[in-house]
Amino acid sequence: MDKIVALCKRRGFIFQSSEIYGGLNGFWDYGPLGVELKRNVKEAWWRDMITNHDEFSTPSGAPSAFSMVGLDCSLIMHPQVWKCSGHYDLFHDMMSDCRETKRRFRFDQIRGRWVHVEKDARGIHRYFMMTDADTPEAGLEDTVVRACKFFDVRRKDAEAAFTWQSPGLVGITPKDNLAHVVTPGATQPGTMTEPREFNLMFKTTIGALGGAEDAAFLRPETAQGMFVNFKNVLDTQRVRVPFGIAQMGKSFRNEITPRNFTFRSREFEQMEMEFFCHPDQSRAWYQYWRDRRYQWYLSHGLGSDRLRLRDHAADELSHYSVGTADVEYAFPFCEPGEFGELEGVAHRGDFDLRSHMEGKLVRDASGCLAVETGPDGKPRHQGSGKDLVYFDDQSRERYVPHVIEPAAGADRATLAFLCEAYHEDAQPDEKGDLQPRVVLKLHPRLSPIKVAVLPLVKKDGMPELGLELYRNFKRAGIPSYFDQQAAIGKRYRRQDEIGTPWCITVDGQSLQDQTVTLRDRDSLEQVRLPVNKVIDEIAARLRG
Ligand code: GAP
Repeated sequence: MDKIVALCKRRGFIFQSSEIYGGLNGFWDYGPLGVELKRNVKEAWWRDMITNHDEFSTPSGAPSAFSMVGLDCSLIMHPQVWKCSGHYDLFHDMMSDCRETKRRFRFDQIRGRWVHVEKDARGIHRYFMMTDADTPEAGLEDTVVRACKFFDVRRKDAEAAFTWQSPGLVGITPKDNLAHVVTPGATQPGTMTEPREFNLMFKTTIGALGGAEDAAFLRPETAQGMFVNFKNVLDTQRVRVPFGIAQMGKSFRNEITPRNFTFRSREFEQMEMEFFCHPDQSRAWYQYWRDRRYQWYLSHGLGSDRLRLRDHAADELSHYSVGTADVEYAFPFCEPGEFGELEGVAHRGDFDLRSHMEGKLVRDASGCLAVETGPDGKPRHQGSGKDLVYFDDQSRERYVPHVIEPAAGADRATLAFLCEAYHEDAQPDEKGDLQPRVVLKLHPRLSPIKVAVLPLVKKDGMPELGLELYRNFKRAGIPSYFDQQAAIGKRYRRQDEIGTPWCITVDGQSLQDQTVTLRDRDSLEQVRLPVNKVIDEIAARLRG
């Protein structure tokens, strides 16, 4: 992971936000190459989900044909949206603070991660020390050393007494644990506060007066924009259920512990689609989107050995969800056997449309969704009161559509594609000496630059011919790059490192017979082509 982070900085993919001021935790800037890569990821998603979608054909595996439309909603929405969606009451993590070191922890990330020391042979005494959850393995060794010092036990004697308890294995209550926990950097046990709720929405104020009633939130997901515009889309577009509304854009979450590069950030981009269907067909549609979204990542280059589709257990489901499956990727920062979430595909039932009609819903004792009421018997959070029921003018049926939601993260997808693409090998230079090579084997659709035009030397008309070819690529709408500095092997390696799939070399022969060589980044194969055919060739390769 360190190598990938270093490459991202070195070649201008991703920088720390506000780096010259020391950075801002949980915020990132995409550099000149990163912005192109992420745009290509989003563009591939938008085209595959919306613009290239054909409502007159039934995609393989789908229960029927369907329509797709897009939206671009505001980042700040009416506060009532978040009350009815459940985010106002439920969108929180448990956090715990160390009173001594002032460090803050997400409780689910530290729970159970203690080193356990039996102080003496007679003693029932047990002490627990928390490891650094960010780097559990490195943290364990460090913690063991510090635990020995702290409890004044010899490492050799204590070795057998140390146990590494993974989350879920601790059989005593967090309250009991916390009294004995020494947090990293603290000098005594029991400095952890009891876990408490922390709402992840960023709060802001609308207007100049800034009273409590002017409080608003930056959206924590793009999804709600699609639900509140359901009726607008129905009334203005010629769509019938089943159909999908998609949106991509920024979301904000005040994550307690942003980490793992861009994987968990406080500002990130989502690519979400809400698919409205008949309740009787919703399970079939859920299956369809679950499988289709998994295939999307495979078809853009993620290896099947590092990608998996995991169904949530019942106790993992969100408050609204009837079923959810995650597309997950084994990022390099994951522990062996662990995966990180790329996308969740959720069957949300009729929770969202009903909540925005009737008021915030909760499950009652029988497991059914009902409007949550306050002590006065009125809805705790009032819905819009608008009629979001769908009327099928052919079957004459009125119903609240069910929703299947594939919710992806553009930053996480971009990071996964970068991680998968990163390879190191060695290639011979002009003298035949092996030179180490870093190569990003990105899918050509995602590569920031598709083709580099490289005159072999900076004389004899080669730069002029190369420049003309480069300009023709630009006119054809193919992102290209012109480079005439340094030895040709070095220039190839520069392009390999940023994932350019093809390089075109203009050499002495080019001036005589109007041919150029086309080099493939992955196979390293070189073929000679007429210069007037090379744009068509690259365009054909890009179409796959
Ligand atoms: N509307 C449902 C929803 O927002 P989610 O699982 O919370 O579901 C969807 O988010 C996707 O958004 C995740 O699978 C992930 O790719 C991305 N995402 C969520 N939180 C993120 C964060 N803090 N940093 C980067 N990406 C995040």
